[in-house]
Amino acid sequence: MKRIAKRPSTRSVLVMLLLALTVVLTSGCAVIGGKIASTSDPAGDQARLIWDLFITPVWWLVIVVFVLVTGWILINIVRFRRQPGDTRIPPQVHGNQRLEIAWTLIPAIILALIAVPSTRLIFELNRDPGPGSNALRAQVIGHQWWWEFRYPEYGIVTAGDLHLVVGRPVVLTITSHDVIHSFWPPRLAGKVDAVPGRAHTMVFTPEETGVFYGQCAELCGAQHAHMQFRVVVQTQEEFDAWVAKLRRPIPEPPAGSLAATGQQLYAGKAGCAGCHQVSPTYDPVTPINKTLAVGPNLAYIGERHVLAAFTDNTPEELHRWIASTCDVKPYSIMCEKWWRIRAEQNTLLTTEEVDAIVAYMLSLQ
Ligand code: CUA
Repeated sequence: MKRIAKRPSTRSVLVMLLLALTVVLTSGCAVIGGKIASTSDPAGDQARLIWDLFITPVWWLVIVVFVLVTGWILINIVRFRRQPGDTRIPPQVHGNQRLEIAWTLIPAIILALIAVPSTRLIFELNRDPGPGSNALRAQVIGHQWWWEFRYPEYGIVTAGDLHLVVGRPVVLTITSHDVIHSFWPPRLAGKVDAVPGRAHTMVFTPEETGVFYGQCAELCGAQHAHMQFRVVVQTQEEFDAWVAKLRRPIPEPPAGSLAATGQQLYAGKAGCAGCHQVSPTYDPVTPINKTLAVGPNLAYIGERHVLAAFTDNTPEELHRWIASTCDVKPYSIMCEKWWRIRAEQNTLLTTEEVDAIVAYMLSLQ
């Protein structure tokens, strides 16, 4: 007869420690760049409705189930623990019809209770308020690995930073130009898949001004983790000023300046203009499935919060991105089709040339 082990094995202790460590390590995941990006701190109506649904009824149901189940297990562990000198094996039972029916029925009832409010909320969310509303309308297009934002109402296009108005509903039409992505601004709204050939709708109202973190939430290739964006929620006046700025012709850098040298390199030797436009306006009748350019539009990149769809937009990071693209974001088009080819042909930019292009980029604000 098999003896019951007295102590937990070293292996099970290790597994428990590993689990505890995982909990500790992953609990920091909601903080990005010192900012909370947690769904538990909603700043938009959709995120708030989803969070409220989670707290009541789901959270309290979970607590009750947890206390009952673990309580019952603990009571039995203590009550039926092996006594010293007791070598008997308890009666071996297999199957109990009543118990099995009970523990199939109870979870089914709990799931049904959760399903009713969840389903109701799913139908409430992302409903287009119709043409009569004052909703802002924008298009979100996923690319491997960056986000493009178009405002057909104003004929302007940008990338990385999505500008919205506090208290004003936004209707986003979401699609992709390559593989399936998922648009997710955790503090503002849930996730909506960006699927090539389809247009999905996301509707929410931002409730706070500020800069909010967003992330692609569908595994879409090597740089999926680096497919982020920021949502800049502004007052109507600030937003109007931003739109007006983008609709004006972009200012030329002063003649003879480092930025002017950068502009020449941009359009000439460096070959940036082949993929990146610096004009923020476009023909607003362009269908959402038609590509405007290979890479992100760089108009007013100097004032954006996010660079290369993941890192903070600082002069140092901009320099590093142009000078060592494949270290910063391997497999990106910019690495594979620009940096690597230049490296092979020995035509990489000198530090001074990178400085000039950075100066030009920073002048775009
Ligand atoms: Cu796009 Cu993950």
